[in-house]
Amino acid sequence: GWGRGEVADEGRWFTYDVVATDPATHARAGVFHTPHGDIPTPIFMPVGTKATVKGLLPSTLEQMGTKILLSNTYHLSMRPGADLVAARGGLHDFMRWQGPILTDSGGFQAFSHEEFFRLSDEGVRFRAVDYDGSWVSWTPEENMRIAQQLGADIVMQLDQCVGWPAPRDKVERSVELSSMWADRCFAAHTRPDQALFGIVQGGMDLDLRVRSLRHLQDSGDFPGYGIGGYSVGEDQTTMFESLAPLVSEHMPMGKPRYLMGVGTPSTLVHAVGCGVDMFDCVLPTRTARMGTAFSSEGRLNLKNARFATDDAPIDPACHCPACAGGFTRAYVHHLVRQREMLGSILLSQHNVCYVLDLMRRARQVIIDGTYADFVAAWDQSPASRDW
Ligand code: GUN
Ligand code: ZN
Repeated sequence: GWGRGEVADEGRWFTYDVVATDPATHARAGVFHTPHGDIPTPIFMPVGTKATVKGLLPSTLEQMGTKILLSNTYHLSMRPGADLVAARGGLHDFMRWQGPILTDSGGFQAFSHEEFFRLSDEGVRFRAVDYDGSWVSWTPEENMRIAQQLGADIVMQLDQCVGWPAPRDKVERSVELSSMWADRCFAAHTRPDQALFGIVQGGMDLDLRVRSLRHLQDSGDFPGYGIGGYSVGEDQTTMFESLAPLVSEHMPMGKPRYLMGVGTPSTLVHAVGCGVDMFDCVLPTRTARMGTAFSSEGRLNLKNARFATDDAPIDPACHCPACAGGFTRAYVHHLVRQREMLGSILLSQHNVCYVLDLMRRARQVIIDGTYADFVAAWDQSPASRDW
């Protein structure tokens, strides 16, 4: 049966309520309802590509206030395989996480190595460079079949992401392909307890972005929209030139907006001001494993010798398990220098908690109607020195 064994009613399961809109910016606070729980927005989704947020137990994620996790259809279809996961009750049971899950399609991975993909009439062939290098063939229909087997609450359409800079005709073709694939994913997707999000592409060109969005709006009633094709090498100014008007002037109010693969804490703060609701990024966990912490004092490299005798917690303003647990910068410095796994774990706890907390604070400030002041204070604070 579907999820909780209830009669499926997509209209009831996947609704988005806007709770508050900020008077001076385009920020909004909302709630997205899913079969595995409500997601308050704005929200950060920790990344668990291979059905694990590296180094973090589900209980720790829950304790830190994680509301939804990200995973990846492409990676899980390669190892351990979607059939194997489905036979174990689906992704929630397999990884022991009963909260909402979103799976990305793998459209990003398939196109990440320019020399290793071929478009066919039916779909895409690409080399599984992260695994055995074999050629993988995908159609939108096959991608949806796998996504439905895994059973996440939210699944993303198959799309084509292009890098930056890119010639306009190349970006235009990626919009056409992604639009066609949106239609085919929409037709192939049948699980009523699962929301299929379309993805807006179009590079840094606002008119192509709007064309991509209009197609999604005309082709089907997607319960939410991904915004792909950013954080592909462009600078912040270039990104916000098209992102800000796309979100604040063209995207519908009543659907959640998910900015894919973005970004630093500062980028999140500014994107929320444009009206973005959902984010995912490997930065908090990946940089943690390299010895880096986000903090109210800016970005810290715990490998640095200046922390060897520093008895403060990673961030005095933080309540994460690592900081509240009394672990000092001196201790974390030692662990990181010795490549002890606990160093990566403590920093991952801290960084994920930091970004979750940032979005919780943002949400409260939007409800209070003072988001513009929050952004101004953020930009003046040492915390904004995060890259
Ligand atoms: N993750 C980051 N960017 C993208 C994108 O453009 N498409 C998909 N599917 N995933 C992404
Ligand atoms: Zn902390």
